[in-house]
Amino acid sequence: MPTPDAPLVLGIETSCDETGVGLVRGTTLLADTVASSVEEHARFGGVVPEVASRAHLEAMVPTIERACATAGVRLTDVDAIAVTSGPGLAGALLVGVASAKALALGLGKPLYGVNHLAAHVAVDQLEHGPLPEPTLALLVSGGHSSLLKVTDLTLGVDPMGATIDDAAGEAFDKVARLLGLPFPGGPHIDRAAASGSSVYVDFPRGLTARRDLERHRFDFSFSGLKTAVARWVEARERAGEPVPVADVAASFQEAVCDVLVRKALDAATSEGIEDLLLGGGVAANSRLRAMAVERAEAVGVRVRVPRPGLCTDNGAMVAALGAEMVARGRTPSALDLPADSSQPVTSVLV
Ligand code: KG4
Ligand code: ZN
Repeated sequence: MPTPDAPLVLGIETSCDETGVGLVRGTTLLADTVASSVEEHARFGGVVPEVASRAHLEAMVPTIERACATAGVRLTDVDAIAVTSGPGLAGALLVGVASAKALALGLGKPLYGVNHLAAHVAVDQLEHGPLPEPTLALLVSGGHSSLLKVTDLTLGVDPMGATIDDAAGEAFDKVARLLGLPFPGGPHIDRAAASGSSVYVDFPRGLTARRDLERHRFDFSFSGLKTAVARWVEARERAGEPVPVADVAASFQEAVCDVLVRKALDAATSEGIEDLLLGGGVAANSRLRAMAVERAEAVGVRVRVPRPGLCTDNGAMVAALGAEMVARGRTPSALDLPADSSQPVTSVLV
């Protein structure tokens, strides 16, 4: 049950191709409304920034209206506005930030410009309650793959490692394309892999060799894996043999998940952290979720993963982080806050 007098926070997310509007009261999720332009990008095999920005413009007001209707609240009931200020696509972010400023100004309510990655972490509080401090967060999406030490979500997070080339989701999307699966590829690989063998091909595990671990113990690299899959598929095609899509998908997925989970648990245990949170679109992956739970249990680490719909981009995550800012009494952002396409993860509130 929502606490009746807890502040009502509206969150806006437009960093990529989802126009998300969430309404949260305290830590209770009242509405999570998403309009996606993903189908408009599918034929290009990736998100086209200008198309995404235009779609946000068209979707913004109807999505806000739908969220309010779902939650059974009026805009004038809202106590604070939160918006993703970065990182993300510059033009797409601008639509969300401009809309949030207009709402904050019109309603006379405080505005919080928050970090997209920190919001991916905060959303879990809506489902599983307060985040233990510290928590080790593995954030894996189409644009990011990072290991973060979260001590206080509203003050900043410490990056422990990140991808040095492709993001995990990008690797899923590119490999899906190689296998003739639609964009975005992650969910299609996940489904195809269910009927394949994860040991069919022994694909490389990036940055796990001893010499790589010296410099990149907690970093990721997926471009070598993507190239290995491409070579393997090409060799099959040259030989005139069919490509076993389910087996390649399962073997590729196993390689990605193996490295993600191995490094996340290494980071957690090396810091003495007992809670691991998975977040971002790739955290919707069924194998990643299962493998993380299984291996974490063996080393005494607890795993928290939001339900798949809260892992991919949405407005609830932004509202969740905004609500946490309000609860901890953080100073709101200035009304001239910028949209920062490369906002560092160390900056959670601008
Ligand atoms: O967090 P998100 O919605 O947007 C970004 O901030 O990037 O993540 C989107 C990414 C895409 O690359 C998509 O293929 C991937 O998440 N994804 C998945 C799954 N669902 C979404 N990857 C693997 N398995 C899934 N089930
Ligand atoms: Zn995201």
